[in-house]
Amino acid sequence: MKGIILAGGSGTRLYPSTLATSKQLLAVYDKPMVYHPLSVLMLAGIREILVISTPESVPPLRSLLGDGSHLGLEISYAEQESPRGIAEALVIGADHIGDGPVALILGDNVFHGAGFPQLLRTARAELDGCTLFGYPVSDPERYGIGEVDAEGNLVSLEEKPDRPRSDNAITGLYFYDADAVEIARGLTPSDRGELEITDVNRVYLEQGRARLIRLGRGYTWLDAGTHDSLLAASQYVHVIEKRQGVRVACVEEIALRMGYIAPEHCHQLGARMKNSEYGQYLMQVARLVA
Ligand code: TTP
Repeated sequence: MKGIILAGGSGTRLYPSTLATSKQLLAVYDKPMVYHPLSVLMLAGIREILVISTPESVPPLRSLLGDGSHLGLEISYAEQESPRGIAEALVIGADHIGDGPVALILGDNVFHGAGFPQLLRTARAELDGCTLFGYPVSDPERYGIGEVDAEGNLVSLEEKPDRPRSDNAITGLYFYDADAVEIARGLTPSDRGELEITDVNRVYLEQGRARLIRLGRGYTWLDAGTHDSLLAASQYVHVIEKRQGVRVACVEEIALRMGYIAPEHCHQLGARMKNSEYGQYLMQVARLVA
């Protein structure tokens, strides 16, 4: 399975913080936001990852993540000229995806919870069509909402419904089989001029090949797209990290624990930033695992 991080957009809700930089490069407490979606793909066991962003933001993302080899990954880049919709990622990423399955994740989504790696790997192994990930929210009228039957099959999709049929918000993580590229290519832009990911999901729903995995109350899902939600995400990560002494979405540690990089290499990565607690943590983890 290939991975795509869609890290473009205009980030207008975060102005002026995003006037001169990309939202996904802003810090969620101690690390760039894009480490969060990257860590999700890594935990799913995905190593070939395409990062799609605006023409201005590809260069700084590339200087941050490089070709991914320091993490045992292959990271490549593509531009999205303007924010023409989430589903356009499947069209832009067609060559990268090839004729296999793909996991698409939005660059501003933060997921955390016990058992998430196993959940991701099971979802990947059982993928047949599309798999969405739902999260219970108290204000479903603000989200795309998915209703599921007892077997986890998606039975309806609603965009910001006045009277929601369920409280399952559809998160920014989507697993698709090889048909997704053709489906996305066949879409026409919506009234707001975007290729809508809901329209891709609706095709799978109509084919009876859409599932939704409900992330229960043991999980956290945040998108960091507004000043308040960015602060909330930072506070969340801060509380967990200080209390537990572990780091959330620490991509170097994940690479180490997945066996993609050796402890000495992880130690070197930490030594490069030894003035930060993050760097010191990498050196400490490398010593523990060695
Ligand atoms: P949004 O939060 O919907 O949009 P945005 O990031 O442009 O922000 P704002 O509403 O404040 O102007 O996007 C969700 C994620 O998807 C975010 O990481 C940006 C990304 N995205 C793209 O990269 N390209 C697109 O065409 C769209 C619609 C979103």
